[in-house]
Amino acid sequence: MFSIILPTYNEKESIVKTIKSIKSAVKNKDYEIIVVDDNSPDKTWNIVDTVFKKNSKVRCLRRINKKGLSSAIIDGFIQAKGEYLFVMDADGQHDEKKLNIMFEKIKKNDIVIGTRFRKGGSVEGWSKTRILASRIGAILARPFLSKKITDPMSGFFGIKKSVFMKYKNNLDGRGYKILLDILFQNKKFKIEEVPFKFKTRKAGKSKLSFKVMIEYLLMLGKHAVRTNLHFIPFSIVGITGVLVNTVLLYILTEYLELYYLLSAVFAIETSIITNFLLNNAWTWRKRKFRHSFFQRLLRYNLVSIIALVINLSVLFILTHFFNIYYIYSNFAGIAFAFLINYFVNDRWTFDEK
Ligand code: GDD
Ligand code: MN
Repeated sequence: MFSIILPTYNEKESIVKTIKSIKSAVKNKDYEIIVVDDNSPDKTWNIVDTVFKKNSKVRCLRRINKKGLSSAIIDGFIQAKGEYLFVMDADGQHDEKKLNIMFEKIKKNDIVIGTRFRKGGSVEGWSKTRILASRIGAILARPFLSKKITDPMSGFFGIKKSVFMKYKNNLDGRGYKILLDILFQNKKFKIEEVPFKFKTRKAGKSKLSFKVMIEYLLMLGKHAVRTNLHFIPFSIVGITGVLVNTVLLYILTEYLELYYLLSAVFAIETSIITNFLLNNAWTWRKRKFRHSFFQRLLRYNLVSIIALVINLSVLFILTHFFNIYYIYSNFAGIAFAFLINYFVNDRWTFDEK
């Protein structure tokens, strides 16, 4: 059976029409529709109960002291009897005609996502800012997700009940981003996307607020810390690199009487190599590397040199064009180069098989 969850908050003008369109779209299927309403002041729950009283396939779960989209979806999923769980906006913005394709696809996948950002998908009547915000949000989530996911914030998706049950206790019920939270649970989910056109809202108001966006960023931040446990050893190795570099620069210049810039070149290259060896043997030691030792060394060097150029460029740009004191510009340069170093090495140099 397919369970379709419709979370609602003040959707009295849309809910009946939405349910009727879904019913006619999936009429030959074994399905149920569960409205999860957070005790809407406009009595959406009451309308559902009255209009669909005689329809055993439609029911309404009215939650009294709770609120929030993600937690409503989680509660709906838990109540659902189907083997496959789906969720849609109750305001008619999602395309119920895509349900049948999604029903087919979910059988062979863990998750199916209705996407607005793949060929064939689109958004209707969004402001430039909303498109930009959505795009930036998706790009920020990218490093943590499989490459083929284009719309990790979609409110239109399906998941196998067994998969949901396995992870439900890890999910954060706050905010809007239930799908993103699910995707974070396992990088290896089998996923397919189905493009659809996100229609404009015909009635009622969007509940997506500034707070929702902040919650989204917090969720990403938390996940970044949780998944980047390599960051701390990498930083410690970075500090040893500075030590190696400084000591060597001093010895070569003072005792071997090399010109200090020439000493610096040796010092930098030596510290790159010692950093590489330490990161290779310690920071990322648990990985089964995709590339050979020599390849990794080469890549590490390349990344370090590019990061150095970036460091200098930031130093120059901030000092020259923004009149920032060069010591501060340099801090910014170091921070930026450090992050580039970390992320590129993590994903490219020490990439896993
Ligand atoms: N039960 C419950 N509780 N339902 C809620 C709540 C809540 O606190 N907040 C919103 N909903 C319901 C709405 O009534 C609607 O049916 C659905 O959740 C989506 O809310 P909208 O307010 O219509 O969101 P949107 O259209 O602006 O945002 C859409 O796009 C986002 C990504 O850009 C949705 O599809 C989001 O899920 C999606 O993340
Ligand atoms: Mn909506």
